[in-house]
Amino acid sequence: MSKSLRVISLFAGAGGMDLGFKNSGFDIVWANDFNKYAVETYRHNFGDHIVLGDISKIPSEEMPDDIDVVIGGFPCQGFSVANTKRNMEDKRNFLYLELLRVVRDKKPKFFVAENVKGLLSMSKGKVIELIKSDFEKIGYKVDYKVLNAADYGVPQARERVIIMGNRIGMENVYPDKTHGPVIEDVEIEKQLDIYDLEQQKRLNLSPYVTTEEAIGYLSDVRTRNEPFKLDGKLIYNHVASENVSDKFWGRKHDVDQFEICDYLREWRKKAGISVKKIDEIFGYRHTAGHWFRKDNNSGSIPKPEDWWMLKELLGFDDTFDKQVTEFIEKEIKFEQSLRITNWDRPSDTITASQPEIHVNKKRRLSVRECAIIQTFPGDFEFKGSLNAMYTQVGNAVPVRLSEKIANKVKESILKSIDKQSIKENQVISKVLAIN
Ligand SMILES: C[S@@+](CC[C@H](N)C(=O)[O-])C[C@H]1O[C@@H](n2cnc3c(N)ncnc32)[C@H](O)[C@@H]1O
Repeated sequence: MSKSLRVISLFAGAGGMDLGFKNSGFDIVWANDFNKYAVETYRHNFGDHIVLGDISKIPSEEMPDDIDVVIGGFPCQGFSVANTKRNMEDKRNFLYLELLRVVRDKKPKFFVAENVKGLLSMSKGKVIELIKSDFEKIGYKVDYKVLNAADYGVPQARERVIIMGNRIGMENVYPDKTHGPVIEDVEIEKQLDIYDLEQQKRLNLSPYVTTEEAIGYLSDVRTRNEPFKLDGKLIYNHVASENVSDKFWGRKHDVDQFEICDYLREWRKKAGISVKKIDEIFGYRHTAGHWFRKDNNSGSIPKPEDWWMLKELLGFDDTFDKQVTEFIEKEIKFEQSLRITNWDRPSDTITASQPEIHVNKKRRLSVRECAIIQTFPGDFEFKGSLNAMYTQVGNAVPVRLSEKIANKVKESILKSIDKQSIKENQVISKVLAIN
């Protein structure tokens, strides 16, 4: 590449996605996040091109021009599935609109956005379609696809939706899988007769990287935040939360699930509202039936926000209000299965809060162990408090996955530049021939 392809990175966090693009040869020229610890980490590892601040307050003119790609994993807490109507009216609050605005103003060849898989089912798929059509309206060909990081050699079964768009007439190409289940698993499935062609194809893939392969070597190494050398390599942030008993919010009063389901069913009948109608109002499938059904012992108790909404709809009395809606914090004890169960498989998703408890230690996974599972290199140093570091790591796009996506984007851009110059050469030859 004669000139590096230039990237603007929104919602950059600690920079997992950015590092993938950087490794692929892109030049990140401007980045933004409003979390000061994430920005500190970013600055330390990448440089000064990150700006601290709320993206909705930063005009596009303050960002550089001549941009090839805009990337960003916009947060989606704003999308609540409970009330479709309100959702759609509130659409100006959605942070993806900031990404849309920057893409509209900077006209990059490509944009790439990452999000949780749940985005696809929000408001029965209306949210993703809204996002897609908004980008199409400004001239982009848009696709989205759920990718599992484990399929790309990341030691983690992390599923994320990758939205990709371009305005240069190319396909949005996703990377091919490189990893799959181990051969022995396929053999067992064969014996059980659940072996299929798809799996046969996977025989050409490398086996999934397991949690043990990725972080086993750190199991017996004392945790500490200060860097230290192990086999000649510097290890940063091998620091872990020692809090191994967790709290959760449990219902304050005893509840009889079937009693409540029966009660709700009676009130639903009185109100003359069908289960289907309630599904429609709540905007998600397979839920309403559970609140009213008891026949196959499958009833479930609504969450408080759903309870109050149901109450408005069905007009029931106060009999169960307290039982359903009052909560207190309860302890989960260490021995109650918080330990990781996937030592010999890719890890479960590393989340932004306290990670799982180490398989054979009385501590949680360390920041470094989480970072390794997210395929950050050993010398990538995180800044801030322990919880701030866990959040940055858990929020990130796995570096290896990002790099593979970036490689495809790069290939497409270079192909389109080639096509363009072939066309130009043809025009020049024609002109020369005429003269
Ligand atoms: C899911 S994380 C992105 C992680 C990043 N893509 C990576 O790979 O490391 C979302 C980020 O958006 C940032 N954010 C949320 N709202 C923001 C806003 N209004 N302005 C700027 N940053 C924001 C959060 O601080 C968080 O770091």
